[in-house]
Amino acid sequence: MSEQIIIFENHLNTLKTQTLNNIKNANNPEELDSIRISIFGKKGQLTEVLKKVGNLSAEDRPKFGKLTNVIKQDIKSCMDDKHQYFERKQLEASLNLKKEDITLPTYFKSLGNQHVISQVISDITDIFSRLGFCVKEGPEIENDFYNFEALNIPDDHPAKDMHDTFYLSDGYLLRTHTSPVQIRTMLKEKPPIRILAPGKVYRCDADTSHSPIFHQIEGLLVDQHVTFSELKGILTFFLKEFFGNDKKIRFRPSYFPFTEPSTEVDVEFHTKKGPQWLEILGAGMVNRNVFRSVNYDPSKFTGLAFGLGIERMAMIKYNIPDIRIFYENDCRFLNQF
Ligand code: PHE
Repeated sequence: MSEQIIIFENHLNTLKTQTLNNIKNANNPEELDSIRISIFGKKGQLTEVLKKVGNLSAEDRPKFGKLTNVIKQDIKSCMDDKHQYFERKQLEASLNLKKEDITLPTYFKSLGNQHVISQVISDITDIFSRLGFCVKEGPEIENDFYNFEALNIPDDHPAKDMHDTFYLSDGYLLRTHTSPVQIRTMLKEKPPIRILAPGKVYRCDADTSHSPIFHQIEGLLVDQHVTFSELKGILTFFLKEFFGNDKKIRFRPSYFPFTEPSTEVDVEFHTKKGPQWLEILGAGMVNRNVFRSVNYDPSKFTGLAFGLGIERMAMIKYNIPDIRIFYENDCRFLNQF
C-alpha cells in the first residue's frame, strides 16, 4: 500500500470518528443537518478529500474509492439512526401533550323518542288498520266548501259559529276539523271507502283542555248497507282496544250537520272527585246531503263517520291534566312515553 493511501486512510478515519461523535452529540435535527453539510456539502470535508483523487496513482484510486465509500456509508447510516431518534422523540412529545384520560365517563347524546301525540296516532291507526281502514291526508289550509259547505254546514248555519274558525284572506281558512278529508276522498274515489284521516286542526280557543292547534282523526266508511250498529260495533271495539277491556263507555245522542243520526261517545274518567264521563268522540251515519255534494247516490250508499281528538285520548289514557304540556317540549315529560 502506498504511503499516500495510508495518509488518506488515517485522515478519513479521524474524520469518521469526529463526525460520528458530532452526530452522537447533536441535540436537534437542525444540528444534524449542519453536520451533514459540513461533511457532504459542496465545500464539505469529505467532498474536499474526494477532490484529491486526481493526485493518486491509477493503482491507488480504486482502493481510495472503496475506502471513501465505506466511510460515507458509516456516516450516513449513523445519521439516519439519529434522524429516526429525533422523529420518535417528537412523536412521543406530541402524544404526551394530548394525553387523554380514558377513565373519564362517556358523554351520551340522547337519541330522543317519538312524541306522545305521534305515538297515539299510530296506536289508533294500527287498531283501525286491522279493520281495513287506510290513512289519508289533506291540506291544513282549506276553503269554505271542503270545511263547511260540502259537509252540510251552509253559511247561515249556527254550527259555523261553534267552530271558532281562523279565517285567512281570499276565502281560505285553517281547517277546524279533519272532516274535509272525507269530502276530498269521496270526490276522488268511489265506494267502498274505509279511510282514517289524522292531522292538525285549528280553532280559536285556549284553556287547560283546549289548544288553538290540536290533532284529530277522522274515520269514514262508505258502502252498501252500512248500519248504525256497525258504527257502534267498530267504535266499541276500538275504544276497548285502546283503553283496555274494562274501560266504561257510553253512547249519547247528539247532533252534527254532516251525520244523521249522530252520537257522541263518552268514556269514564277517574278524578280526585270520583268517576266522571268525558266526551271523547263524535260520530254518526253520513248525512244524505253530504253524499249529494260529492255526487254519491244516497239511495244506493250509506256510510258511517267519526272524529276524535288525539290530545283528549292521550290525556285520558295517561292521566295528563293540562293539554298545554304536549306542546312545551319538556324532555322530562316527553321521555316518559
Ligand atoms: N268533525 C267533528 C268535530 O270536529 C267530529 C265528527 C266527525 C263528528 C265525523 C261526526 C262525524 O267535532
